Amino acid sequence: MPQVKVLTEFFDVPDSHKIDVWEKHGGYQAIRKVLKSMTPDEVIEEVKRSKLRGLGGAGFPTGVKWGFVPKDSEKPKYLVVNADEGEPGTFKDRHVIMNIPHSLLEGMMIASYAIGAHVAYIYIRGEYVHPARRLEEAIAEAKAKGYLGKGIFGTDYDLEVYIHRGAGAYICGEETALLNSLEGKKGWPRLKPPFPATVGAFQSPTVVNNVETLSYVPHIIARGADWFASLSEGTERCGGTRIFSVSGHVKRPGVYEAPLHTTLREIVYDFAGGIRGDKKLKAVIPGGSSCPVLKADEIDVRMCFDDLAKAGTMAGSGGVIVMDEDTCMFDTLRNIIHFYAHESCGQCTPCRQGTGWLVRIFDRIAEGRGMPGDVDNILEIAQNIMGRTICPLGDAAAMPVISFVTKFREEFEYHVREGRCDLEDRKQRVAMAS
Ligand SMILES: Cc1cc2nc3c(=O)[nH]c(=O)nc-3n(C[C@H](O)[C@H](O)[C@H](O)COP(=O)(O)O)c2cc1C
Repeated sequence: MPQVKVLTEFFDVPDSHKIDVWEKHGGYQAIRKVLKSMTPDEVIEEVKRSKLRGLGGAGFPTGVKWGFVPKDSEKPKYLVVNADEGEPGTFKDRHVIMNIPHSLLEGMMIASYAIGAHVAYIYIRGEYVHPARRLEEAIAEAKAKGYLGKGIFGTDYDLEVYIHRGAGAYICGEETALLNSLEGKKGWPRLKPPFPATVGAFQSPTVVNNVETLSYVPHIIARGADWFASLSEGTERCGGTRIFSVSGHVKRPGVYEAPLHTTLREIVYDFAGGIRGDKKLKAVIPGGSSCPVLKADEIDVRMCFDDLAKAGTMAGSGGVIVMDEDTCMFDTLRNIIHFYAHESCGQCTPCRQGTGWLVRIFDRIAEGRGMPGDVDNILEIAQNIMGRTICPLGDAAAMPVISFVTKFREEFEYHVREGRCDLEDRKQRVAMAS
């Protein structure tokens, strides 16, 4: 299975981040077409037909989301780009911003026009200093050409784009926490409904979209919804390609773009070259650390949102984390749960307390002080976090716990019982036998 490159095709073009190079490769033609010959409704229809799904995590159909913005509201409308990229295992937005910032800006222009916004924000994680600078340069280039500001492209449509830098909190990737942070408030998620499409930034209708999602939009407008939808053959509700961030024990970690009918096996073995040192595969997390883990014999699944859901996991943000046969699942999960406990915003008791309890139990087991019933207790705590919080960070913490412990229970029982890893014991047994 070859890669299919829509966005990444430009990554190897020298100076692809510069506006002149972008225009030489057809850039800023789609927005011209939109402003000249399409109504906002026609743009929304085209994006709906393309089957573009949100690539930030939830996979919500992008055109449908845009269509929720009320047309009769007198309030200003806003577009907000989610460039927080906090999900462990995910690093594709950084590459999009660094290589093709004008694809994102053009996508923002089209989306803003479609929803009637004249102000758009890019909320970028604080650690992304270089990408934020790259965006500043791209915005300045676009402004200098009259592509941003008053009357863009010589029309009567105005659009300003502002960059807002975050301060290093994973929770601010959740769209309503992000909006609170953008407004200068504490980054706590809001109760939904109302959803941002009706009550978002500054109490006004707002669309929040991921960097990669918006970057596909110019290509959809330029080459047509049918072309984009047809890229993911045989998947009913998914269109196009997406960029997978592949990390862990593979020979060639990196970003790979492929249609959504590509299987997880193809990503691990064909794109990323298989397992380092030709070891056996043990497990893969297919969509970022919050997604349930798959065992080695479960990777013949297509990477489309619906197939992964049927397989009991999620497509998430496309962060494929690969683990070889020598991976200790207890240590891996302990690491993950430390992350979620640290990043829990503390607003909801089940998440704040539950993740803290899990950390303390995991740390105690790691110190060799496991107790009978610990494994059941871990599962019960995780199950009591699931679905009981304002935002999905609670679920994001609970899902890996439930899947790791259920699928690799014996390893967890061994840690509790023996106070060490069965992998170390296994290695010793192999060494002694040889
Ligand atoms: C805890 C948490 C963290 C999230 N972090 C991100 C993030 O870093 N980037 C992102 O695009 N979406 C993130 N999301 C998903 C957003 O809430 C939202 O669904 C997304 O920005 C919508 O854009 P899309 O429809 O283009 O995917 C996160 C969600 C949760 C619950």
